[in-house]
Amino acid sequence: MTQLTEIHGVVQDHYGAIAESRSSCCGANGCCDDASNATLLYNAELLDGLPADVTGLSLGCGDPVTIAGLQPGERVLDLGSGGGIDCFLAARQVGAAGSVIGVDMTPAMLAQAHANQQRMGVTNVEFRQGQIEALPVADNSIDVVMSNCVINLAPDKLAVFREAFRALRPGGRVAVSDIVTEGEFSDELRADLSQWAGCVTGAIDAADYMAQMHAAGFTDIAVTDKRSAAEIVPIQPGMPRVYSARVTALKPTA
Ligand SMILES: C[S@@+](CC[C@H](N)C(=O)[O-])C[C@H]1O[C@@H](n2cnc3c(N)ncnc32)[C@H](O)[C@@H]1O
Repeated sequence: MTQLTEIHGVVQDHYGAIAESRSSCCGANGCCDDASNATLLYNAELLDGLPADVTGLSLGCGDPVTIAGLQPGERVLDLGSGGGIDCFLAARQVGAAGSVIGVDMTPAMLAQAHANQQRMGVTNVEFRQGQIEALPVADNSIDVVMSNCVINLAPDKLAVFREAFRALRPGGRVAVSDIVTEGEFSDELRADLSQWAGCVTGAIDAADYMAQMHAAGFTDIAVTDKRSAAEIVPIQPGMPRVYSARVTALKPTA
């Protein structure tokens, strides 16, 4: 089994290089990083007014902000916030009375997010450096945990779900877009860390994903709207079905 720290290192190098170069990684390396990815994922009205520096660093596989159905005043946490696109969209919806925390482990990605924040003059977003398996966030302090194409990259998904559960207030909810599979990757494909970093071979079967969320304490877990991820990540013959899915769940009130 590949060491967890080795996976973190490869993933961090991959996204650090994207943040530094801002060049397209569509194709062989996985998630797209040009504005066409944002156009593919989000409603045009939602993106209205966002600078090209933000839409051009959209690396997700869905639209967790719309899944979340955010209300003014809510406190939102974005796991793996990248260049910040979902944080900035959420910030508009929760308004001045609400707040958004974006957590990412890659310094160059955080630098892009901070630069974008300054350029936009957004004051209700805070970006923090950290791993989503050990969130730098207080217990029971968050109304909505969202994430866009990141949990598939985490080598210990149960730790991520446990941390999301800890950070959410009782009654809080999860709104995630992520890559899941129907079936398993071979050990050989799992060991291909370049494809792992490209949001492909770190993905797990949807049933296993739901079981791990359940083990962390979540209820009302749903993995729905599974769409082939072929437009978003490179899929090869011999792989299981790979989907971009919407994932929702609740932290029970008692
Ligand atoms: C595919 S990009 C998605 C970025 C953003 N959510 C978006 O939609 O544009 C994955 C991001 O997650 C971060 N990331 C991956 N694994 C992480 C982990 N274990 N802890 C914290 N951040 C992580 C990477 O640094 C990168 O910025």
